[in-house]
Amino acid sequence: MNEALHSLATVPAISPYSLALSRQARAGLKGQRPRCLWLTGLSGAGKSTLANSLELHLHQFGLHTFLLDGDNVRNGLCRDLGMDDACRRENIRRMAEVARLMVDAGLIVIVAAISPFRAEREAARQLFAEGDFIEVHVSTSLTVCERRDPKGLYQAVRQGRIQHFTGIDSPYEAPLAAECRIDTEAVEPSEACERLAAFLLKK
Ligand code: ADX
Repeated sequence: MNEALHSLATVPAISPYSLALSRQARAGLKGQRPRCLWLTGLSGAGKSTLANSLELHLHQFGLHTFLLDGDNVRNGLCRDLGMDDACRRENIRRMAEVARLMVDAGLIVIVAAISPFRAEREAARQLFAEGDFIEVHVSTSLTVCERRDPKGLYQAVRQGRIQHFTGIDSPYEAPLAAECRIDTEAVEPSEACERLAAFLLKK
C-alpha cells in the first residue's frame, strides 16, 4: 500500500465542507435518481459482461451512468494494490468512495468487482442513502467460472503461478441478503440485464 499513507497520523481531523449545490439539484438536471448498483461475484462470473450490457441498455433510455470495473480501476487509482486481504479491503473502500462521489454528482453508478468480503460491501452500503445501494450477487459457481476461465487465470492458479486467488486460496463471502441474485448459468444475458435495469429505472 502507498507509503504516503503513513504521514496521515500527524494530520488533525478535517471537517467536511458543506456544498451549496445539493446532490438532488445535480441529479434533477439529469432527470434521474442516482444510485449505486454493486455487482459482486467470483472472477469469471460474468460481472463485467453484465455490467457492460446494462450500461449500454441504460444509455439507450437516456440515463447518465458510469461503470467502475475492478480490472480498470486496478490499472489506475488502485494500481498500488495487490490481492492480499488488506489490499482488497482498500480496493473496495476506494471503489465505494468513488462510487459515492459519482452518485453525489448525479450519476447512476455500476460497480463490477469481486469484492469478496461482506464487511467491506456492508461498509460500502453505509455510504449511501437507504435504497440507493443495490447489491447484486452474480452467483455463477466456481466450477463454471473455472470452466469458462476467460483470462486463463484459473489455469495459472492450478499451475501455481498465481496466489491469493478468490474461491481457491482466498475466501469469497457470498452475500446473505443481496437485493438481487443473478445466476448466469440459469438466466439469459438479456433477461439478467432487464432485471437489473428494472431496479434503476424505478423512480
Ligand atoms: S477485488 O477482490 O479487490 O474486488 P477486483 O474485482 O478489483 O478484485 O479485481 C479482480 C480482477 O483481478 C479479476 O477480474 C482478475 O482479472 C484479476 N486478478 C488477478 N489476480 C487475482 C487474484 N489473485 N484473485 C482474483 N482476481 C485476480
